[in-house]
Amino acid sequence: MDAIRWEGNTLYLLDQTKLPVTEVWLAYHDWRAVAEAIRTMVVRGAPAIGISAAYAYALAALAGGDLCQAKAGLAASRPTAVNLFWALERMERKASACGGSSDALIAEAKAIHAEDVAMCRAMGAYGAAVVPEHARILTHCNAGALATGGYGTALGVIRAAHEQGKVAMVYADETRPLLQGARLTAYELVADHIPATLIADNMAAALMARGAIDLVVVGCDRMAANGDFANKIGTYSVAVNARYHGVPFYTALPSSTIDLSLSDGSQIPIEQRDKDEVRALGGVQTAPAGVEVYNPAFDVTPHTLLTGVITERGIVYPPFRENLAKRFG
Ligand code: MRU
Repeated sequence: MDAIRWEGNTLYLLDQTKLPVTEVWLAYHDWRAVAEAIRTMVVRGAPAIGISAAYAYALAALAGGDLCQAKAGLAASRPTAVNLFWALERMERKASACGGSSDALIAEAKAIHAEDVAMCRAMGAYGAAVVPEHARILTHCNAGALATGGYGTALGVIRAAHEQGKVAMVYADETRPLLQGARLTAYELVADHIPATLIADNMAAALMARGAIDLVVVGCDRMAANGDFANKIGTYSVAVNARYHGVPFYTALPSSTIDLSLSDGSQIPIEQRDKDEVRALGGVQTAPAGVEVYNPAFDVTPHTLLTGVITERGIVYPPFRENLAKRFG
């Protein structure tokens, strides 16, 4: 399964706003349209946003456009996932080195894409080792093939553990307000024939209280130097519940998601989204039109609630500030 393709100087994105009901691939030739696709979440998930922005930067070069303007426009599309800025910085460095050659920039975007898949595979192999036999695993949001170059971060760990015959059940939080768990994670699990049960977000604690969850693994949008990390809103409450019930809690991320320039999670910019995402469900109004709404797209989970960080270079354990610096500094 994949969500991003480059064919014949055209970027194709699987429209994730239409899943799981319809599979529509949209074609892109203009970086501005890709910035809009990121903003409206046609493409979403930290690594997938970075890869799409890299291809969009290459599209700007192909069109003979102003690369500084393209970089700034793409960087303004979503603020939290650091992969976006990481990919754009890397493309800008390549543009300086190659004099803005579109062939070289396309090759760089393809390299970013291929490296992301390889990092997901490596995370899968490391992460599967901490998954017990007959595991019942909980995940939140979608950190799968659709959110990355392919295979997935948290779902990559689950896929690898499943390939080893270790997965008894995956519980997918539906993930209000935009239902990435119900629409995307459940879609990936069903497609891969991995045992899956969908739950509403407010059911996770009840499952943990019954002893029905052995491990939690989630994705990440940005990790600060001390291990605090931003992920989809609701991740923090899953982490609190996991700690209370003694359930191991991991995040899986590629090094492109680590931002060592931020000392702790309070410095991570958190995106606020449209209030109608909470006032409605699937386009159907579920609340009074005028009601005030709080709609942060992400929350920050403190590193103190983390068992370990699964990366492409192995699993990082506490003390996180010291061990992240050692491995990624
Ligand atoms: O708002 P989204 O759907 O882009 O949020 C996605 C998440 O929070 C994912 O868990 C995160 O990007 C990790 S994806 C491998």
